[in-house]
Amino acid sequence: MEEKISLLEKEAEEEIKKVKAEKELEEARVRYLGRKSTINQLFSQLPKLEKEKRAYIGRRLNLLKEKIERLIKEKKLQFEKKEEEIDFTVISPCLHVGRKHLLTQVIEEICQIFKNLGFQIIEGNEIEDEWHNFSALNIPLEHPSRDVFDTFYLDLPPQEGGKFLLRSHTSPSQIRVMEKFSPPLAVISPGRVYRPDNPDASHSFMFHQIEGFCVDKEIDFSHLKGVLFYFAQSFFSPQVKLRFRPHYFPFTEPSAEVDISCIICQGKGCSVCKGKGWLEVLGCGMIHPKVLKNCGINPKKFSGFAFGMGVERIAMLKYRIADIRIFFENDVRFLEQF
Ligand code: PHE
Repeated sequence: MEEKISLLEKEAEEEIKKVKAEKELEEARVRYLGRKSTINQLFSQLPKLEKEKRAYIGRRLNLLKEKIERLIKEKKLQFEKKEEEIDFTVISPCLHVGRKHLLTQVIEEICQIFKNLGFQIIEGNEIEDEWHNFSALNIPLEHPSRDVFDTFYLDLPPQEGGKFLLRSHTSPSQIRVMEKFSPPLAVISPGRVYRPDNPDASHSFMFHQIEGFCVDKEIDFSHLKGVLFYFAQSFFSPQVKLRFRPHYFPFTEPSAEVDISCIICQGKGCSVCKGKGWLEVLGCGMIHPKVLKNCGINPKKFSGFAFGMGVERIAMLKYRIADIRIFFENDVRFLEQF
């Protein structure tokens, strides 16, 4: 069905572009939006789909319908303009309707999935100090991520939290929230992060992460698994599988990296997953007792899980984008595709 939608989108786009007369445009409108149109047939198949799939396909169909309506409207305006005598007092019709950047759309979609589970959204600070970005997260003084090659330090006099810096991950949001509020907590925190990497197809010195965490009595790894399953199945596809690989983060214990079964080849092995059948999407684990303690939460009474994911990476996988730099170039030809 997804393929049908993509094909229909291409076909409609090309056809409307080619239209030369108003009569043809009306014919195209009937063909693509009329009662007997493919899009209407697809809409009528919606009730047959599974719940999650239905919401996703429904959204895609609505977006496609809006797009076709917009293309037809734009074409119509072009015809009308041609027929008129030039009148310099006319305010020009706005042919390009603005829309949200793909990254904003992805962040909003991910946050909505966690909101459905009862998570609250709290944005942290882009300028942080060493305490919140490192020490409170149990990252030792000699850890390489503290190096000037891995963190942007600001030219400001240090204060009691140490030097100021541009946060290198969204995990300091955990600390900010836990210092201020007591459990139960279920929070999702999206935002920009900064690392002095040389830009290439998969690196950018600024990118986005989404942090999530939950602290309460008797929270265990199964809660983390359940939440991440719900997320992956809602966001990628109801058929997606998850794999937890043991990993190390100073602020979680135990820690894991999570892979999803490749959404392109369904795990068979392709160029996107480099033949492995799996794609790494996030890091996670049970919040280290020292981290809870650092925020004034008693680790004997409370436990929690946390996870963090890179938004660009996830968007690149879902929308098959090969180069991270394109997100930030503001090329209208790219922005208009979504
Ligand atoms: N902060 C980690 C990173 O940037 C991700 C992470 C978040 C891992 C929360 C575990 C728990 O790579």
